[in-house]
Amino acid sequence: MDLIDPYGRTVRDLRISITDRCNFRCTYCMPAEGMKWLPRADVLTYEEMRRLAAVCVGHFGVDGIRITGGEPTMRAHLPVLIDKLAQLVVPKDASSPRAGQPIDLAITTNGATLRLIADELRDAGLKRINVSLDTLRADRFAAMTRRDELAHVLDGIDAAIDAGFDPVKVNAVVQRGVNDDEIVDLATFGRERGVEVRFIEFMPLDAQATWDLSQVVGQDEIVAKIAEVYPLEQVPARGAAPADRWRYLDGRGTIGVIPSVTKPFCGDCDRVRITADGQFRTCLFATTEFDLRALLRNGATDDELAAEIRRAVGTKWAGHNIGNVAFVRPRRTMSQIGG
Ligand code: 5AD
Ligand code: SF4
Repeated sequence: MDLIDPYGRTVRDLRISITDRCNFRCTYCMPAEGMKWLPRADVLTYEEMRRLAAVCVGHFGVDGIRITGGEPTMRAHLPVLIDKLAQLVVPKDASSPRAGQPIDLAITTNGATLRLIADELRDAGLKRINVSLDTLRADRFAAMTRRDELAHVLDGIDAAIDAGFDPVKVNAVVQRGVNDDEIVDLATFGRERGVEVRFIEFMPLDAQATWDLSQVVGQDEIVAKIAEVYPLEQVPARGAAPADRWRYLDGRGTIGVIPSVTKPFCGDCDRVRITADGQFRTCLFATTEFDLRALLRNGATDDELAAEIRRAVGTKWAGHNIGNVAFVRPRRTMSQIGG
């Protein structure tokens, strides 16, 4: 009943993008204007999402679900979805360490409206929140996201902490010449607020397709910059989690670095994705999608959905080829696939 791909990796983690829309226009993600949104009717309903999630958990022992976007808080009544998903329990006979327990449910958000809904999300059963924040400077934030919203995002992080989310993590994409001079400032911010900052290497999923390797700041450089100011030691073993982690020797918490480009972790990848329009993907960079929405809307049974998911996972590749001549950009960008 485990879902095992051709390279022997067991699928445990499902990411569901619930909308392709966003209230920001981050330069590395979207053009300033002219994004074409999915027609409403193409986007899965919460009930359709719950059903696909239930198949993944019930049939295959998937034990973690992350809600992504676009920006997931753009979707109305988000706590309704959270409530449905929080009730999913990993089957008792699953090989997961979470067998018999509720799934690990998390969300990735830009944080701008968190103050308004953090408590509701918590009450609905959400446990973990990651907030994306690439800069602490208001002018730079406005330039990078094309929205003057830094204060709201910072307040959103506080709101998540106040609501009792644990852990709250902050995701920072580092781009050379854009925000790489803030690596230490972001680390300081994490130490002061008691949140784990996770630095992410910039990946070729930008809408403008201007990515090149010279814009990537690698893990070694990120860690060295921080360690110069705050001595660090590596935390052993990350398993299937994408972040390598370090702890501050003075006990003031941890950082994570996600080395998607310089040290791809594809060999340990345990995830699959469903886009907002119900397309199943075995990799962020996959060039093929499997149309679960069509099956759902044509009356497929749970077993039929499970069979299609198993067929899709049977095509999962060993890994992406970023930085290699063989690399092919996926047709859709980050906000359309889900981070
Ligand atoms: N490379 C790396 N991370 C990215 N994100 C968006 N686009 C990229 C990219 N090209 C991040 C966002 C957010 C998460 C959903 O994905 O900053 O933290
Ligand atoms: Fe929105 Fe996230 Fe894309 Fe920024 S990176 S525009 S917050 S989806």
